Amino acid sequence: MRTYIWTLPTRIFHWFLAVGFAVAYILGDFDNLRNLHFAFGAFVGTLIVFRLLFGLFGPKYSNFKDFPIGLKNQKEFIKTYFSKAKTYAGHNPAASVIALFILLVGILCSISGYLLYATENNVLSMGINEEFLEESHEVMANLFLALVSIHILGVLADTLFHGKTGTLQSIFTGFKNIETKNTRLNGFHKIFSLLWLIIPFIIFYLAYELQINTKGNEVENNEYYKHDDD
Ligand code: HEM
Ligand code: HEM
Repeated sequence: MRTYIWTLPTRIFHWFLAVGFAVAYILGDFDNLRNLHFAFGAFVGTLIVFRLLFGLFGPKYSNFKDFPIGLKNQKEFIKTYFSKAKTYAGHNPAASVIALFILLVGILCSISGYLLYATENNVLSMGINEEFLEESHEVMANLFLALVSIHILGVLADTLFHGKTGTLQSIFTGFKNIETKNTRLNGFHKIFSLLWLIIPFIIFYLAYELQINTKGNEVENNEYYKHDDD
């Protein structure tokens, strides 16, 4: 018996997020590809904003109220991990916690990246120290990487010990090999998903077009010399 667990928007989100994060992370180290880094980073942040909203009013299993994150669930999950009796239709308790942390850290990473850009380029002046922002952005990016690594190890362990459930396949096909209630999208979910597919690409483009103000310091220096001449 197969049950439909992850609808198309959740699956598309997942793979856009995975690719977006990987590319943004790698591009972080290339000064000459800064705008492409902004674009992928902002893409990731926008995808996550939509996922957070989908968590509030999205379909069964993708909705946050179906994430079993409570302490009782965590204890039961650990105790019954190797027993065949217990299977989870949506995310298991540990996967739910990691998924929520990925969303939280992902959004903080994008915000800190934008604030860093805005401070370095005199777009905003919030009085936050540039070095602090740089540190925070780097810490968030590396925390994001650590969470993704744990997530992938979790999926691999699940495939090893509970392979029959088909969790790994489910993020491609939407189906798990269990007998429970199918999920489905309503009209509102479908319209929302269309925006989810379009808006991250618009933000990608806008972020790619962000101006990097290399003249900032030169202008200040010229002003300085001008006064000197007077
Ligand atoms: C940068 C890489 C990745 C990120 C950021 C990421 C993030 C996430 C997130 C946030 C979820 C929760 C989905 C939701 O509820 O919307 C999830 C689920 C899932 N991911 Fe990933 N993922 C990544 C890579 C991978 C890879 C490489 C695999 C396959 C080996 C994978 C397999 C899965 C599976 C099977 C689920 C569903 C798990 C379940 O049923 O509980 N992910 N991932
Ligand atoms: C979740 C998405 C993002 C990830 C994973 C990410 C990751 C990284 C990484 C790994 C670095 C290199 C850090 C170092 O070694 O110094 C970096 C640097 C940077 N990122 Fe991001 N970033 C993201 C989003 C953004 C966004 C949206 C912006 C701005 C619009 C941004 C702006 C910057 C800037 C300005 C630097 C250069 C820091 C420096 O001056 O050295 N990032 N990012």
